[in-house]
Amino acid sequence: NQIKIFSPATVANVACGFDVLGFCLNEIGDEMCIKKTYKKGIFIVKIEGFDLPIEAELNVAGVSALAMYKTLDLDYGFEIEIYKNIKPGSGIGSSAASAVGSVFGINELLDRPFNKTQLVEFAIKGEALASKCEHADNLAPAIFGGFTLVKSMSPLEILQIPVPKNLYATIIHPQIEIKTAEARAILPNQVNLQDAIEQWSNFGSLIHGLHTSDYQLIKRSLHDSIVEPHRSKLIPNYNDVKTAAIKAGALGTGISGSGPSIFSLCEGLESANNVKDAIKNIYSKTGIKFDIYVSKIN
Ligand code: HSE
Repeated sequence: NQIKIFSPATVANVACGFDVLGFCLNEIGDEMCIKKTYKKGIFIVKIEGFDLPIEAELNVAGVSALAMYKTLDLDYGFEIEIYKNIKPGSGIGSSAASAVGSVFGINELLDRPFNKTQLVEFAIKGEALASKCEHADNLAPAIFGGFTLVKSMSPLEILQIPVPKNLYATIIHPQIEIKTAEARAILPNQVNLQDAIEQWSNFGSLIHGLHTSDYQLIKRSLHDSIVEPHRSKLIPNYNDVKTAAIKAGALGTGISGSGPSIFSLCEGLESANNVKDAIKNIYSKTGIKFDIYVSKIN
């Protein structure tokens, strides 16, 4: 009647896949404990780690759980304890981890009445509370693992993309907060045709590179002609980090979700650690506190 779950952090966009592509970071995430209770409804009973609303209707995990709960006719409810490790506004899917954790855990306690895509549907409601818009590029990899592509939002269709065996991510999380809603507000409503052509050529090539484990093609495809020029200004020393990471051997570097976290994809653990050292070296000089992680993608 009770379950403990781990809800992973995720990297959305992955350079050229704005709002559709994402991957899962297996080693970083939140924990939740979910229990059945005699009282009907969804109750957040404890939040540790960060100061977030405890009322279910105002809490991302609560809203997604309520979206699921309302479709069921149960004579009992659920209590949720949230142990947050992922800082809100970090760009590694903090709200998505909350939104996914509650629905995943409740689904397990109910013996899985819903499939993974349906869980993402419920979680979209929670995610929308945080980012003021419905997107599933963090939610899908948190539920499915690996790389996912949100083919369509309505009806929701998610594709799992194969992950090359030796692919690692290095993530730096500078301790400043960027709100997704604000990072979306600075984006233009229209894009230049030449930029769009470049973007979909890179995006298609990246997906092909992931399918064929072609690291050199992945490297040549990890570019963002549309979003990065606007958002990189919000992240201190972004260009220095990118230059250092590429020089140290990263296949590519980009903004993780809406930032401020920055991801690099690397072939092999050794390369990922070299990139980590190079980035550490740059960021230690800024005086801004940061966390830095290496995670295998699978
Ligand atoms: N695709 C979203 C964005 C992800 O970049 O705004 C936010 O985490």
